[in-house]
Amino acid sequence: KVKEICQELVLSQEALKEVCDRLQEEINKGLGKESNPEATIKCFPTYVRELPNGKEKGRFLALDLGGTNFRVLLIELGDKCTMESRIYAVPQPIMIGPGDGLFDHIAECLASFIKERNLGTELLPLGFTFSFPCKQEGLTKARLARWTKGFKCEGVEGRDVVELLKKAIAKRGDVKIKICAVLNDTTGTLMSCAWKNHNCRVGLIVGTGTNACYMEKIEKVELWDGDLEEPRQVIINTEWGAFGDNGCLDFVRTEYDNTIDRESLNPGKQLFEKMISGMYMGEVARQVIVRLVAEGLLFDGKSSDILQEKGSFFTKYISEIESDEDGDFNNCYAILEELGLNNATDADCANVRHVCECVSRRAAYLAGAGVALLLNRINEESVSVAVDGSVYRFHPHFHNLMVEQVSQLIKPGIKFDLMLSEDGSGRGAALVAAVASRTSAMR
Ligand code: BG6
Ligand code: GLC
Repeated sequence: KVKEICQELVLSQEALKEVCDRLQEEINKGLGKESNPEATIKCFPTYVRELPNGKEKGRFLALDLGGTNFRVLLIELGDKCTMESRIYAVPQPIMIGPGDGLFDHIAECLASFIKERNLGTELLPLGFTFSFPCKQEGLTKARLARWTKGFKCEGVEGRDVVELLKKAIAKRGDVKIKICAVLNDTTGTLMSCAWKNHNCRVGLIVGTGTNACYMEKIEKVELWDGDLEEPRQVIINTEWGAFGDNGCLDFVRTEYDNTIDRESLNPGKQLFEKMISGMYMGEVARQVIVRLVAEGLLFDGKSSDILQEKGSFFTKYISEIESDEDGDFNNCYAILEELGLNNATDADCANVRHVCECVSRRAAYLAGAGVALLLNRINEESVSVAVDGSVYRFHPHFHNLMVEQVSQLIKPGIKFDLMLSEDGSGRGAALVAAVASRTSAMR
C-alpha cells in the first residue's frame, strides 16, 4: 500500500523522455526573438563569451548571494587559486523586507570584510554573484526579473541590481570598489570548473534552487543583441526552474507539488524547481509521510505536532536517512525522534526511507533529463558538467542517479561527466571579472 501511494512520484522513462522533449521546446521559445516574451524559460544571455584559459591573475572581491549562505570573498588567482571568505547572516525580515534594507545590509557586510582585512587601500575589482533570474543588459547590468526561493524584497524587481548595490555603497562612503561583473551562480560554477577543465560547457545548481547554464552558439540565440565578433558564443542562463509554469509539466506533477506551490512565496512560479531543489524536497517528503500516517500506514496512525508543521522535515534529513547502511536505520530513528515520533519500528523506518528515495530519485532524474537535453543541444563529443549545490553535494546517491538518467537520454556517442565544482561561485566571479578585463583589453 505504501509503495502504491508513492508510485505517483515514480516517473517512467517515457515520461522523462517527454520532459526532455518539452524542455527542448521551451528553451527554443526562450531563445527566440518573437517567442521570448511568452516563454517561461527565459534563457538570459549572460554576456560571458569566453571561458578562462587557466592563466588569469589578480586579486578580486566577490559577493555571493542567493544560496544557503551569503558570503563575501577575497580571491587571489594565479597558478593556484586561494580564497578567504566569511559567511554573513541575512535575517529573514531582510529577505522579505524592502529592497533598500537588503542592499544596505550587503554593503555593510562588504565594508566590514574590507575593514577587517585592511583592504581599503587598493581599488579592488568585484564580481557579484546574484543567484536570481536577471535580464542582463551587459556584464555589469542585470535587471531582476523576479525573486525566487526565499527572497521577496520590495522595489527590486525590474531594477538593475548593480545600480542598487552601487547606491548602497556610495551612501556609506567608506568603501571603494569597482564592480566588474554580475553573474548567476550557474555561470560562476561553469567558469570555475572551466578554469582547469577545457571541456566544461554546462553549469548546474541543485541546491536551495535549481538552474543550469550552458555555452550556446550565437546563431542559435535569436534574441542576442550584442556584437557578432568572435568568439560567436555566449553562456545562456536558462533559468530552467521556471519550466512548467505554463502547465507543460502538469502531467508529472502531483497533489503534493500543488500544495507546496500554493503555500509558497511565489505561487504558480518555479514549478520545475519545486520538484527538484532543496528548498522543497523535504516538504514533498513530509507531505507524503503525513498522508501515510493519516491512512494508518505509518507509526500506528499517530502523528506528532512537529511532523504536522510545514517545513519541519528538512531536505538534509533525506540525505541522512538515505546514508544509513542497508538494513540499519540509525539516522532514520534519530530524525524521527527529533520529530517527536518515538515509537517507530523498523518497518516504519523502511517506509520512511522509501518515501525519501522516491522523492530524491524523482528530483535527480528530472535534473538528469534536463542535463541530457543540454548535452544533446551542445552536441560535442565530450563535455563536462560543473555541478554545485547542497542537494548534489550531500545526497549520497544524487550523482549516480543523475548519471544514470543522463545516460538514458543522451545521444549515442556523446561522453560526459558531472564534476563537483569546489567553491564555484567565488572563483567563478573572480574569473568572470578577470576574463572581462582581458577581453576588453583585447578589443
Ligand atoms: C554555493 C555557491 O557553493 O552553492 C553559491 O557558492 C550557490 O553561489 C550555492 O548559490 C548553491 O547551493 P545552495 O545549496 O547553497 O543553494
Ligand atoms: C533559482 C534562481 C536561479 C539560481 C537557482 C540556483 O532558480 O532563480 O537564478 O541559479 O535558484 O541557485
